[in-house]
Amino acid sequence: MEVATGRKLLIPAGIQTLLRDLIHERTGIFFDPSRFDVLVEKIEPLAMERNCYSLLDYYYLLKYEENGVADWARVMDALSVQETYFWREIDQIKGMAGTILPALLRATGDKPVQIWSVPCATGEEPLTIAMVLNEAGWFERAQITIHASDGSRAAVEKARRGRYRERAFRSLPPWLRDKYFTQQGSEWQPVADLQARVATWSVVNLAAPEEYSAYASSPIIFCRNAFIYFSPTSVKTVVNAFADRMPAHGYLFVGASESLLNITDRFRLDDLEGAFVYVKR
Ligand SMILES: C[S@@+](CC[C@H](N)C(=O)[O-])C[C@H]1O[C@@H](n2cnc3c(N)ncnc32)[C@H](O)[C@@H]1O
Repeated sequence: MEVATGRKLLIPAGIQTLLRDLIHERTGIFFDPSRFDVLVEKIEPLAMERNCYSLLDYYYLLKYEENGVADWARVMDALSVQETYFWREIDQIKGMAGTILPALLRATGDKPVQIWSVPCATGEEPLTIAMVLNEAGWFERAQITIHASDGSRAAVEKARRGRYRERAFRSLPPWLRDKYFTQQGSEWQPVADLQARVATWSVVNLAAPEEYSAYASSPIIFCRNAFIYFSPTSVKTVVNAFADRMPAHGYLFVGASESLLNITDRFRLDDLEGAFVYVKR
């Protein structure tokens, strides 16, 4: 797309609040006034790309344009913080494989189990889940399907492509990297068997529950390190949407620094020997 050059984008007073509220409504992501400069920094290039004269024009374009799907996809990419790595907050994933899965299979009479990782960013989390389950021998003993989704198209494309740099491996034991990845120059690629353990990679917006009903009916959902960017109201909307769709005793994992205390009473908190999981009441 052509970028308008040789001029500055007009930033009218009060536009930050308007944009913040619109982005909050459509994505759940919330910018406190102390971070309005970051918001403008991220959105300004998109407005320039669309040859807008003022940030207000871009606001109207986002708010009213009927076919704004492509613009909103760019906004989501621009706001997406894809900080993630293999083996992150691993105690929850080990607890899922060691405690929750056996209990779930006992309770359901070995019914197939669906696990959803959302947001998956560039794929490290669902691939970690697949490695832990494989190491525990679960794929031979049960029918387990892993789905992965993120709101950022760019993140999902990277996850599908499956190329990882050194930083992504900072917490993964080296022998697991050697077992599950092959080196391609300065990057590492998951072996085909591991990549195939993630059945689908999709783009979904957590603020639009109608987009993810089928995935949210999973008995195990990992939704970690997204709510730190959301307002309490949008966290509530998302977890209640999960609660509406998950089966009885569904298990929801949120990030170590995230909490549903005072957000919803539809889940109770359980201790998994040091890691925490929310269980649908
Ligand atoms: C820090 S990453 C979390 C990745 C992984 N779950 C982890 O814990 O390592 C945050 C991700 O949230 C995604 N995200 C933000 N808002 C979203 C929304 N409304 N719907 C879906 N994904 C969203 C971003 O695109 C980004 O990839």
